Amino acid sequence: MSESAEPLDGPDLANGVERASLADGRMLLGHAHGEAVLLARCGDEIVAIGAHCTHYGAPLGDGMLVDDTVRCPWHHACFSLRTGAPVRAPALDPVACWRVEQRNGVVYVCEPLQRHKPATIPPSVGQPRSIVIVGGGAAGNAAAEMLRREGYAGSITMLSADASRPCDRPNLSKGFLAGSAPAESNLLRSSAFYLEHRIDLQLDAPVATLDTKHRRVQLVDGRRHGFDALLLATGADPVRLGVPGATMRHVHYLRTLADSRTLVAKAVASQRAVVIGASFIGLEVAASLRARNVDVHVVAPDAIPMERILGPDVGKFLRNLHERNGVTFHLRNTAVAIDKESVRLQSGDVLRADLVVVGIGVRPVTAVAEQAGLAVDRGITVDEYLETSVPGVFAAGDIARWPDRLTGERIRVEHWVVAERQGQTAARNMLGRRERFDAVPFFWTEQYDFSLAYVGHAERWDEAEVDGHLEAGSGGCTITYRRNGKKLAVAVVHRDLEGLRAELEFERTMACELPLVEAPARALARPLGVGNM
Ligand SMILES: Cc1cc2nc3c(=O)[nH]c(=O)nc-3n(C[C@H](O)[C@H](O)[C@H](O)COP(=O)(O)OP(=O)(O)OC[C@H]3O[C@@H](n4cnc5c(N)ncnc54)[C@H](O)[C@@H]3O)c2cc1C
Ligand code: FES
Repeated sequence: MSESAEPLDGPDLANGVERASLADGRMLLGHAHGEAVLLARCGDEIVAIGAHCTHYGAPLGDGMLVDDTVRCPWHHACFSLRTGAPVRAPALDPVACWRVEQRNGVVYVCEPLQRHKPATIPPSVGQPRSIVIVGGGAAGNAAAEMLRREGYAGSITMLSADASRPCDRPNLSKGFLAGSAPAESNLLRSSAFYLEHRIDLQLDAPVATLDTKHRRVQLVDGRRHGFDALLLATGADPVRLGVPGATMRHVHYLRTLADSRTLVAKAVASQRAVVIGASFIGLEVAASLRARNVDVHVVAPDAIPMERILGPDVGKFLRNLHERNGVTFHLRNTAVAIDKESVRLQSGDVLRADLVVVGIGVRPVTAVAEQAGLAVDRGITVDEYLETSVPGVFAAGDIARWPDRLTGERIRVEHWVVAERQGQTAARNMLGRRERFDAVPFFWTEQYDFSLAYVGHAERWDEAEVDGHLEAGSGGCTITYRRNGKKLAVAVVHRDLEGLRAELEFERTMACELPLVEAPARALARPLGVGNM
């Protein structure tokens, strides 16, 4: 997760630019003191912030200004223009801010503003003294960080069944597996980070039971942790393949960093892989293995890959894209048996394979919630504040089924950004904020040079309207998914701004359909400052 090391573009803002050259609501990319800087004008105020997103380094100047924030074009992180704070995941770190001076119609970018540590709030009546987070993934990590950013001073214990610290799971099937991203990019934070923020992260620490009456959890090894408030963020587990030979050593699943490391090691020595499943994971794994020159065959029951989610046009394009990159598909087919050297298909075909990767979906990990008697219905049932059926026990991420304002239905999604944002909202609600979870779902996928961003949620749709072309260099494409004429989701390819506009439109639709608890627009009335981690 490094900032991109692009050459410095645009004017030297330390030398000043004409104020008139920056229209209201516009951004200007330049540099100052050796760093890329973005000037943004919001009404009378002009601010200067770092030009690159702290998630994967996207150019924020290609993003969108909304109120006093800028939204990242790639994965829709959002930063405060006044403080640089990462208001919305997936960015977890702030961007830098500089002091701006205006003299005689000229705007100068001066020295960087100092970043203040968040003030610690003394425990108040009704606030939890101890918080336990079960799960060390996207939601759990984002929640722990947000608790400290909000100034929470009590104890935070994060219990994770993983052997590694919270990792960048999306990277595991993409850059890391393909060999284009270094191993260091996998871990979200250093051990020192958790120490510094007094987050007691315990690895290899699976929780076995939850006792809501006595407010404690018990680990598989018998240790117990009491809590005043609890977040369940146990994510999802890959669905296992139930055919003869499926438990052999060369058959792999991909969820954890350990899984990905094993796959990388195997890929280096493999010649021919069979990927079972043409889901996002299956297709991303296929693309990454091709980048390592492994011969790849994909087996799936679908007639067109990803058709149900993305529609026939995108599905056919993806199939074609993979075929052009050397993948062979065996569609309308399933694996019926695996042996040391091959995979036998229902059609009778036998595919040689020294590596098998199974990506046939995931199931939410709800065992602890079920054992504790929480309401569970294809995921843990939570209210709009992400609280479960037991007060003080919250759930976030892949396990949570929440009331979505856009569709009017309870939904559960398996998206990185949603999990992080839910973790952040749950954290604030554990501190008593009563903040609705109203973020518009967002996910992305990358395969070869193809990258698609999807905003909204269309589990079922009856129309997928395609505007534009999917091929790179052809102006991009927008696919709008509707049910009974109602727009439910938008996917964009090479049209980042369209994706951001769709997100904003969905937010405004939601705000109109029901009165918001909080005013959506933040006024630019507070003094400039820089805050947070
Ligand atoms: C390879 C891969 C690529 C992906 N790519 C994308 C992508 O490109 N875009 C996108 O939007 N989404 C992507 N996803 C999905 C995304 O990673 C998930 O939606 C997200 O990680 C969910 O976050 P979570 O916190 O709910 O669960 P997780 O991140 O899975 O974390 C769950 C945590 O709970 C722990 N746990 C489970 N049971 C217990 C227990 N009993 N006790 C203690 N701890 C427990 C686990 O060890 C883990 O630490 C990808 C997923 C994978 C696996
Ligand atoms: S690069 Fe900005 S959100 Fe990912």
